[in-house]
Amino acid sequence: MQKRTVLSIVFISILILGGLIIWKEYSDAQARTKEQPQKISRQTFENKRQPNRRALNQQLFINASQNQNGNTAALGRRLLENIKYKQISLVDYHIHQIGQVSANKDQFNVVFKNMKSSKNIIIGTPVYWSDMSGYLKTLFDRMGEHEDGSLRGKNVYLVIQGSDPSDAIIPITHVVKHLSDTFQMNFIGEATTDEQVANLHDKLFQNSR
Ligand SMILES: Cc1cc2nc3c(=O)[nH]c(=O)nc-3n(C[C@H](O)[C@H](O)[C@H](O)COP(=O)(O)O)c2cc1C
Repeated sequence: MQKRTVLSIVFISILILGGLIIWKEYSDAQARTKEQPQKISRQTFENKRQPNRRALNQQLFINASQNQNGNTAALGRRLLENIKYKQISLVDYHIHQIGQVSANKDQFNVVFKNMKSSKNIIIGTPVYWSDMSGYLKTLFDRMGEHEDGSLRGKNVYLVIQGSDPSDAIIPITHVVKHLSDTFQMNFIGEATTDEQVANLHDKLFQNSR
């Protein structure tokens, strides 16, 4: 065989081999792409967030009494009759006074997180010395450090329980309205008497569906 012929055969062989290698690489790359999980689209991401959305339908009853199951809780139960809700009794949480917070034991964030994941926030307070309970006032004082828009649009309901609460209703309601405005929440109403509780219940029932 002539030297030129041999060189041509070698050259063509190299070309064919190179082509085969390139083709193999290409088909491997195609297979790898198919195996990879699909890129998470915005829709998929939103779907993954569904459990949080469900939590948003939750009703949270904040019981600001020293008794988890006293008169204030009973008033709250009447307001929330036939409505699913979660109760948080502030007496069970260590929420430090504003200016005295020590990071390791303070439980403000637990309560605040529950507020953030609820659509309807029902606040129940007993009257102590013609005012809201200290537990509730402390919670409100601490909330002032978290005006970050995370409570915007939530509905707020207030129940006031006392042996003779008439002098306390206006000042307590004023504070809760002020708080609702500051946090861009919707103050729906307050109730003390059975009739008021029944009226407020109807509004809450509508908003909980
Ligand atoms: C420290 C203290 C102060 C109170 N001050 C008032 C008051 O000023 N006006 C009132 O109507 N009731 C007052 N009460 C009565 C409570 O508001 C009332 O017993 C209420 O039903 C208690 O609710 P609870 O069972 O959830 O604790 C006071 C009770 C306590 C413990």
